[in-house]
Amino acid sequence: MESREKLIYDLFIKNFGSRPIFIKSPGRVNLIGEHTDYNDGFVLPAAIDKKIFLAMAPNNKNKIRLVAADMDQAEYETAVSKTYKHSALGWPNYILGVVDQLQKSGFTPGGFDCIFGGDIPIGAGLSSSAALEGGVVSGLAELFDLEISRMEMAKLGQRAENQFVGVQCGIMDQFANLHGKAGSAIRLDCRSLEYTHYPFNRDDIAILLCDTNVRRELATSEYNVRRKQCEVGVEILRKFDPSIKSLRDVPQELLEKHKDALEPVVYNRCLYVLEENQRVLDACEFLLRSDIQSFGKKMYESHAGLRDLYQVSCHELDVLVEATESLDEVSGARMMGGGFGGCTINLVLENKIEKVITNIKTKYEKKVSTPVEFYIARISEGVTVKKY
Ligand code: GLA
Repeated sequence: MESREKLIYDLFIKNFGSRPIFIKSPGRVNLIGEHTDYNDGFVLPAAIDKKIFLAMAPNNKNKIRLVAADMDQAEYETAVSKTYKHSALGWPNYILGVVDQLQKSGFTPGGFDCIFGGDIPIGAGLSSSAALEGGVVSGLAELFDLEISRMEMAKLGQRAENQFVGVQCGIMDQFANLHGKAGSAIRLDCRSLEYTHYPFNRDDIAILLCDTNVRRELATSEYNVRRKQCEVGVEILRKFDPSIKSLRDVPQELLEKHKDALEPVVYNRCLYVLEENQRVLDACEFLLRSDIQSFGKKMYESHAGLRDLYQVSCHELDVLVEATESLDEVSGARMMGGGFGGCTINLVLENKIEKVITNIKTKYEKKVSTPVEFYIARISEGVTVKKY
């Protein structure tokens, strides 16, 4: 057992006395395809080796008893019921949201105990919330024999977040958490939910994450604003072509032709999404040819679009990306996730990692006072469930 795993396991035995099942639930990176998932577009995420560990067992007491190991072992308890109140603690809502959605889908999980903790930095854009949701739904499916596919689990986690937590996220994070495969990125068509694995396992290339440590409330409010702006664009463009259901259906010529019908800001949002979708498709072609340089160029273009057209970047993220532009050891870099803080993702020559980190750090510290942190992410399996 890894030491962190053992810690959670032992804590469970100490608190509840029963033998739990053990779930490992990964965070994710997204190589390219940002803010495209809720526009029926394409994304290219992968599960990583930063995880939440969960120990879970039924308690036959009709109670939900939760402990957050990394938050001073904060505890939460409630009875299994038809509706759940939001907890001011925040974190229980991801778990209650999942139980709530399971019940709304006709499943009847019983009372259970759960202790969780891990090493996914919270709010860094690595989807710790999706990891918690995916871990809980997988654990409950195992404990209570619920017949539910991984894709249904992903959709359920997304609904929990949309309806119970109140974040209007797309499907990417929950999907990646549950479908990850070691050594592969996954291109997901967020409309059809068809997906293809793309090998991403070059020994000479590492995925370096640079964390700004910036966490902004803006991330949620502005996220919902971006969604709305895309919907407004679709509504207007549909007047010219009623077959348009989402930005996925909009050819760039049509957008240009009716540019004047859109507010400039709405036009920019739409243009970004159309271009980003195409970038994902192009980037996947480059991956097939193992052309990491061309792939990396698409990442830089993606960042420029997110910064200038979609406007979800921030000074700290821009400084980090800019710091890599002159480095031959870095083939691509961009902000990752919702934006306004969190991490950049960088493709770096494995044997030059230390040099690159020092270089970025020096440049960053000249311009920004908050400390930057670095993590190396390895692409790994989606959620796993183990019985002892
Ligand atoms: C967050 C959301 C995802 C996705 C990204 C942006 O991570 O949870 O659904 O929209 O932002 O690509």
